[in-house]
Amino acid sequence: MSCRVPIAAGNWKMNLRRDQALALAEGLARGLAPQGAVEVLLFPAHPLVEVVAAALRGRPLEVGGQDLHPEEWGAHTGDVSAWQLVDSGCTWVLVGHSERRSDHAEGDELVAAKVARAADAGLLPILCLGETLAERQQERTLEVLDRQLTAVADVAPTELVVAYEPVWAIGTGETASPEQAQAAHEFLRTRAGELWGATRADQLRLLYGGSVKPDNAPDLIRCEDIDGFLVGGASLDAEKFLAIIHACGASAA
Ligand code: 13P
Repeated sequence: MSCRVPIAAGNWKMNLRRDQALALAEGLARGLAPQGAVEVLLFPAHPLVEVVAAALRGRPLEVGGQDLHPEEWGAHTGDVSAWQLVDSGCTWVLVGHSERRSDHAEGDELVAAKVARAADAGLLPILCLGETLAERQQERTLEVLDRQLTAVADVAPTELVVAYEPVWAIGTGETASPEQAQAAHEFLRTRAGELWGATRADQLRLLYGGSVKPDNAPDLIRCEDIDGFLVGGASLDAEKFLAIIHACGASAA
């Protein structure tokens, strides 16, 4: 039996104005069980990170950035550095989200450089990976996951968290079935064992993301290799996200 602490992470993407973000953060902080057995993480858009982190200081929620630049500083208009995230109150950062991979043509090499930079600054990276619908239909899912995980083999810190987010399930309302998600997670844990050894693979937290909702979270979290969720749309609603957090907590109890 592993003792991986579940994670419920809310990726707010490019949503919410400041007052809405603060109200949502406050609603979540108030609704959380005081001795929660779940790590709860929020990923606001960069301009909101600092105010949300400040509002949550001393509360059992942590804040992260949605992306970072692989270099330490420099002439990169519009980008954000690892140290700027740290100074804004971040402890975590998402790397390689499929919307970054598709909107900004981020490839595996760049993603690996970002993981390395995050680790260097002491930020805990959540590596996002997953196949597109075409790749699944061509039965290339495991090949894609293998490539995306192996890309960070030499740079990933021991605390790396991996989020499996099949692109076809993101924002579509179509969730991977527990069997599909478990198969991908089991493969990722096996590959992690080959890359980093059995102990680290056993401790690796693997999150599922893609249309997670209060009604599908309990069945997904029961899968042996699913250690929590990276939630988009449903994390913008305190009641829904609290129900998902509760499902993670119930699985850990
Ligand atoms: P949805 O939960 O809206 O499908 O988004 C998932 C996601 O991309 C989280 O990073």
